[in-house]
Amino acid sequence: MEVLGIDFGGSGIKGAVVDTKTGELVTERHRIETPQPATPEAVSEVMTELIQHFDWKGKVGVGVPAVVKNGVVLTAANIDNSWIGQPINQHLSEKTGCEVECINDADAAGIAEIHFGAGAKAKGMVFLLTVGTGIGTVIFIDKHLVPNLELGHLEFKNKTIERYTADSVRKRKDLSWKDWGKRFNSALDYYDRMFNPNLFIVGGGVSKKMDKFNEYIAIDTPVVPAEMENNAGIIGAALNLVYK
Ligand code: BGC
Repeated sequence: MEVLGIDFGGSGIKGAVVDTKTGELVTERHRIETPQPATPEAVSEVMTELIQHFDWKGKVGVGVPAVVKNGVVLTAANIDNSWIGQPINQHLSEKTGCEVECINDADAAGIAEIHFGAGAKAKGMVFLLTVGTGIGTVIFIDKHLVPNLELGHLEFKNKTIERYTADSVRKRKDLSWKDWGKRFNSALDYYDRMFNPNLFIVGGGVSKKMDKFNEYIAIDTPVVPAEMENNAGIIGAALNLVYK
């Protein structure tokens, strides 16, 4: 089956048609700037534009940077507060005229990696982090997703893990890779002691730059970069419609 996958990010809303059998894109990606503020109204206009761009009439899977439970958005750490309480599946389906199903963005990226990427051969518990504007977290147990874990918001060093070591913190504070890498390692160490996974996968923007901070990662559990880079969010949002 082909599904239009859409990744709703802090700076861009990106989409492509995905073959859910192979986990591959069957079209080029198309990206539109995220409107500011990213209200439900403004975002649904961008989604409609994306759907028109692909001349798409089928199903649409969307990854959203928030908790999405029973089709309703429950949090808004890095998006407009007016999303909270929105029945997002219904809202976007009505606005776009397509059948739309949303999932947390980190859960989406995780689904892509666990089936077709860095976690494809992994067994037991896999802990994936998406490190970008925020920190998204996902746990899989033998490929089964535990949805909507918000472990980036755990308290750590008088902040939250997200506010301590997201990639946006590195950029904003102009941290060296060494300083940021040590921060990131201490967060991984904390997760490792709390959850004891078999494997950590690091996704999001920093996954391409792991050679810059790998030397500061000093935990015993293996830590590997995500393999699908920019496309994991799109692919996983589409796969969510078939891997349930
Ligand atoms: C949000 C998560 C999201 C993560 C990555 C966090 O601030 O609370 O839901 O997965 O950012 O976008």
